[in-house]
Amino acid sequence: MTNQRVFSGIQPSGDPHLGNYLGAIQNYVHYQDGNDAVYCIVDLHAVTTQRDPEALRTDTLRLAQVLIASGLDPENCILFAQSHVPQHAQLGWLMQATTSFGELNRMTQFKDKGDRTEFVSSALFSYPALQAADILLYDTNIVPVGDDQRQHLELSRDVAQRFNSRYGDTFVIPEHVIPPVAARVMDLQRPEDKMSKTAEADNGLVMMLEDPKSIEKKFKRAVTDSEDEVRFDPEHKAGVSNLLSILSAVTGETPTDLAERYTQYGRLKVDTAEAVIERLRPIQERFAELSSDPGETARVLSAGAVKAREIAEDVYSRARSNMGFLPV
Ligand code: TYM
Repeated sequence: MTNQRVFSGIQPSGDPHLGNYLGAIQNYVHYQDGNDAVYCIVDLHAVTTQRDPEALRTDTLRLAQVLIASGLDPENCILFAQSHVPQHAQLGWLMQATTSFGELNRMTQFKDKGDRTEFVSSALFSYPALQAADILLYDTNIVPVGDDQRQHLELSRDVAQRFNSRYGDTFVIPEHVIPPVAARVMDLQRPEDKMSKTAEADNGLVMMLEDPKSIEKKFKRAVTDSEDEVRFDPEHKAGVSNLLSILSAVTGETPTDLAERYTQYGRLKVDTAEAVIERLRPIQERFAELSSDPGETARVLSAGAVKAREIAEDVYSRARSNMGFLPV
C-alpha cells in the first residue's frame, strides 16, 4: 500500500540517545518516503514532569535539529511542535473522557515514572490519553515506535475503537510498527535495563551528539558476561546480545549472522563502537551546521505547524461534532 499516513512523537527531554535513534528515528526517516509522514516534538508531554522553561525551549529546538540532521526532510514530511497545534490538547480532553481510570492505572510507564518523581502530576497519569489524541488527530495508519511504547499504542487503539462505537465512525484505527532489531536498546552497563536518560549513571547511555572518544570508551567498557562465546541470546546473554542488536541495526546484517563472525567480546565491542560512531558522524556534522542558525529551525517548525493544523482542525471538528458539541 502506498501513501499511508504515518505519525510519531518524541519528547524534548534532553538530547536523544542511541535507543531513540535505532528504535525510532531511523524508522521515521525510512517512512517519510512514499507516505504522508507527520512527526511531532511532543513538548506538551515533556511538561508532565516539571521542566525549566529555558531548558524546554533549548531542548525543543535542538531536537528539531537532530531530527533534521538525521535525515528528516521538512519538504518531505511535516515536522512540528505539539504545543503549536492546539487541537492536541483539545482532543486530549475528549480522549480523557473516553479512557478509564483503570486503563491509565495499568500503564507500566506511569508506574515507573511515578515512582521516580516526587511531584506526580495528574498530567503524568493521563499522558496516554494525550498520546492517543496525538495519533488519532491525523487519521494515522502507521506509528513507528520503539518497544517501550507498545502498551500506549494498544491503549490508543482501544480508545479509538471505544469512541467509534459510542459516537459513530470517527477515527482511523492505527497500527504500530516496531523495528525487527534494536526495538529496545539496553543500557551498556545494566543490560537488563532499557537505555534511558533517567538511568542513575550515564556510563551505559550513549547520546546521539556524544563525542566519539567517549562513545568508544563506553562500548569498550560495556558489561557482557563471564563466558567467552559470542551468541545472540537476549535472555541469557543480555549484554552481548545488546551489542549484536546495535551492530545489526547499524549494518543491516542479522544479529545471528554477526554472532557467527565473532569469537571475542573485545572485537565485537570495538566494531560496534566504530559502526555507531561512523553512523552518527554525519548527523553530528549536520547538527553543528544547523545549530548555527536557530532562527531557520524555528521557521521550519512554524511552517510544519501550519500544515499539521490543517489536518488536525478537520479531524478534531469531526470528533467534536460526533460527540455532540454544538457548532461554533
Ligand atoms: P520518547 O520520547 O521516550 O521516545 C521516543 C522514541 O524512542 C523510542 N525509544 C527507544 N527505542 C529503543 N530502545 C530504547 N532504549 C528506547 N528508548 C526510547 C521510543 O519507543 C519512542 O518511539 N510517549 C512517547 C512520545 C509520544 C508518542 C506520541 C509516540 C507522544 N505522543 C504519539 C508515538 C505516537 C515517548 O515518551 O517517547
